Amino acid sequence: MIHIHRLERYWMITVGIVMGGFMAALVASVLVYGVRLPTPVGRVDPTHLENTDLATPGLTQDSEHAYTLRVVAKMWQFDFGVKGQMPKITLQHGSSLKIVATSKDVTHGFYVEQHNVNMMLVPGQISEMDVVFTKPGIYHIICHEYCGPGHQNMIAVIEVL
Ligand code: CUA
Repeated sequence: MIHIHRLERYWMITVGIVMGGFMAALVASVLVYGVRLPTPVGRVDPTHLENTDLATPGLTQDSEHAYTLRVVAKMWQFDFGVKGQMPKITLQHGSSLKIVATSKDVTHGFYVEQHNVNMMLVPGQISEMDVVFTKPGIYHIICHEYCGPGHQNMIAVIEVL
């Protein structure tokens, strides 16, 4: 049995507890809090989106409480087929929304207030996330990656009734 100094042993035990705590937090974030990483689900040519599913961005209803939102981010707006400075979609609470998004120019962000949606939209890559809206409210979609002089104008609204 090798000799380990008493203080060194305390130090190793402390490190073990801290590492165990981090591991437990990681497991809890996935199993208890439902944290998911946004997954790259496909690649597209950002200069030829007209040949893809994202040719006509917009909201489609898949079943009674399930929707898909296709979004093309560009300098400096979120395009999902709704005109206006701050485009808006409206859903009933309890609805699930699959977001399928990409960028056609530079890297943008896609963050939904008070929900577990935080994606980078990288040109050439399709990002996808599912979210359920359980509470009525107004939730902004915000670009949280600096993308140029109009960055602060990239904002949209999800209204949950
Ligand atoms: Cu798009 Cu910041």
